[in-house]
Amino acid sequence: MSIVSTRKEGDILVVSANNPPVNALGQAVRAGLADAIKAAAADDSIKAIVIRCDGRTFFAGADITEFGKPPVGPGLPSVCDAIEASAKPAVAAIHGTALGGGLEVALGCHYRIAVPSAKLGLPEVKLGILPGAGGTQRLPRVVGVKDALPMIVFGDPIPAKKAEAIGLVDRIAGEQSLETDAIAFAREIAKNSTHPVSRDRTDKVDEAKKDPAFFERFRQENARKLRGLEAPVACIEAVQAAVNLPYEEGAKKERELIMKLMGSTQSKALRHVFFAERAAAKIDDIGADTQTLPVKKVAVLGAGTMGGGITMNFLSAGIPVTILEREQAALDRGVAIIRKNYEATAKKGRLTTEQVEKAMSLLTPTLDFNALGEADLIIEAVFENMEIKKEVFARLDGVAKPGAILASNTSYLNLDEIASATKRPESVIGLHFFSPANVMKLLEVVRGAKTAPAVLKTCMELARKINKVAVVSGVCFGFIGNRMLSQRQQEANKLVLEGAKPWDIDRVLTSFGMPMGPFQMSDLAGLDIGWSAETSKSSTIREVLCERGRRGQKTGKGFYDYDENRKASPSPEVEEIIAEFIAKSGSNQRPVSDEEILERLLYPMVNEGAKILDEKIAQRASDIDIVWLNGYGWPAYTGGPMFWADTVGLDKIAESLAKHGFAVAPLLKAKAEQGGKFN
Ligand code: 3HC
Ligand code: NAI
Repeated sequence: MSIVSTRKEGDILVVSANNPPVNALGQAVRAGLADAIKAAAADDSIKAIVIRCDGRTFFAGADITEFGKPPVGPGLPSVCDAIEASAKPAVAAIHGTALGGGLEVALGCHYRIAVPSAKLGLPEVKLGILPGAGGTQRLPRVVGVKDALPMIVFGDPIPAKKAEAIGLVDRIAGEQSLETDAIAFAREIAKNSTHPVSRDRTDKVDEAKKDPAFFERFRQENARKLRGLEAPVACIEAVQAAVNLPYEEGAKKERELIMKLMGSTQSKALRHVFFAERAAAKIDDIGADTQTLPVKKVAVLGAGTMGGGITMNFLSAGIPVTILEREQAALDRGVAIIRKNYEATAKKGRLTTEQVEKAMSLLTPTLDFNALGEADLIIEAVFENMEIKKEVFARLDGVAKPGAILASNTSYLNLDEIASATKRPESVIGLHFFSPANVMKLLEVVRGAKTAPAVLKTCMELARKINKVAVVSGVCFGFIGNRMLSQRQQEANKLVLEGAKPWDIDRVLTSFGMPMGPFQMSDLAGLDIGWSAETSKSSTIREVLCERGRRGQKTGKGFYDYDENRKASPSPEVEEIIAEFIAKSGSNQRPVSDEEILERLLYPMVNEGAKILDEKIAQRASDIDIVWLNGYGWPAYTGGPMFWADTVGLDKIAESLAKHGFAVAPLLKAKAEQGGKFN
């Protein structure tokens, strides 16, 4: 079957694209669309055109795999122009997602009809580019600048109903009858003597001209969100051109901007992230024929910080959870926090009261271990202590039904040792959530030596259902993420002893694009995790801080001083503590440059990443990137630590590591010598 086919329904030409999985607008699709428009023009019996797609979605955008390759015509801008210039009016019939180039095709059409479940958007900015087929010029003309600008600058799609409200969609179709409704609509509009042409519309942009300060205000209000990003800035410039320039000139500006962005490192990094996210879901040695296990009921052990957050993921996805604690008070506290979190979300308008009650009704709190017997998946989130974990798993083995998946949320402990406490290590897996577990996207799925393929595959699919990005990790201390984090933390501590200030270290990392640095992170988590007054011996700066009551944000002071609004400022007391500590150890402080801080914090992480790859703890370098992007807020526009390392140059990194006394990982060394890359 051809990728684009046409058929006549009386006087309507129905143009159908069929390019699975998402009807990306590759060369053959573009050529097919251009031919169809010509065919309509040449056929006097045709009065109007319907453009639609087979399969799960309307065009989800340009074909990203063609980016960076020599372009083969017709280009998408000219296809959109041809549709718009057609004397026979065109109706876009939208289901699934009309994204990027897909929405641009729809904007080239004279009319748009969509099913209620459809979503429409221009997500190009998330790939570090901007809409390049007239989207930045047509959308503001159709819906106005106030609605168009955020869609283009942030890239989030909007539902069909909203699209109708702002004039992007002319009519809502029946969920099951899009094609017939679109044909009927085409017949109706064919009777009109004129048809709306997006590029010729001036009413909405004239409106925007009355408020010339709008763009500057938008820039200022969103300065924080847009920090360090090239594409959104270009998006604003392009929309500004839509207001101030005639269509042709605005479109020229759009072209110039997209050409510049396309070659940028940020865009390459963001495209890498797009494909890396999808690759992470694939497990190399597990075939499509592996059957997954049903997960209809979940149980969670421990209603502490993690247990509560983990539970919320399943409740929100409509999966019932039994939550177990040792004592009623802890159980009540845990359940109350879950409710409080949901209610806070409802207060912000992101959930209805009914949704909150629906989620809470799926929760069964218990103190009875036997209540876990029904669960298909049991996730343990008790204290981080091997003896306790082994005891819990041995007990679980006694009550869990045959085939139930037994998961641990351990951060660092050896999963295989935990599994050895059961008679069914094949059912044991690590599900390492990140805090706050109801918010953070990352899930490290830890594959034990004996974990069954079906168990692993089930957990990967389940991750998607609860809206997580899952990455497979082998068993090692700290798995992928925390193992690399430990390297950074060690080096940050060393740097402080050499003379770098904690706030300088944090500043270098936040300037790089991380949401916070190691000392801000410690203050947030609490410096006293794993610390006890009885055993504290003033042997590290952290111990001294805890001894002096500086235990982090919760005590109003840690590495930083905090005011009543939790605003941090560098602490003179901490500076003194550090100076005394260094003096006692007999070493000298020296000035440490920002460049040295960055290299010594991030290069050892890359080095550790190379070992993780070499040991096959991670399946692929891009999986390591996904862990850091989704678990620790590494800036996506650098692509993640391993992609970033490629852009820095592995030879440069290896050289710097050696200079600072690190043993360079063999894989990194080999790649550096051969001029190779991780990705
Ligand atoms: N080009 C090429 N391949 C694409 C693609 C695209 N635009 N969009 C998705 N795919 C591929 C994915 O890589 C994946 O391949 P795989 O199965 O080999 O891993 C497959 O299609 C299925 O994708 P998902 O797993 O993401 O499927 P979902 O059903 O979860 O999501 C979607 C569907 C919402 C359409 C999502 O794929 C998506 O957001 N796609 C990207 C949309 C986008 O960014 N469009 C703008 C492109 S840039 C552009 O249009 C420029 C223009 O202005 C000139
Ligand atoms: P927490 O101390 O907040 O919660 C643990 C809960 O488990 C407590 O409420 C405790 O009463 C309960 N508990 C202990 N033994 C139990 C038993 N036998 N049966 C039932 N309940 C029991 O600890 P947190 O932070 O939630 O950590 C739990 C696990 O998650 C640990 O393994 C930790 O390493 C891991 N983790 C923690 C993260 C964090 O940021 N806090 C992040 C990722 C993983």
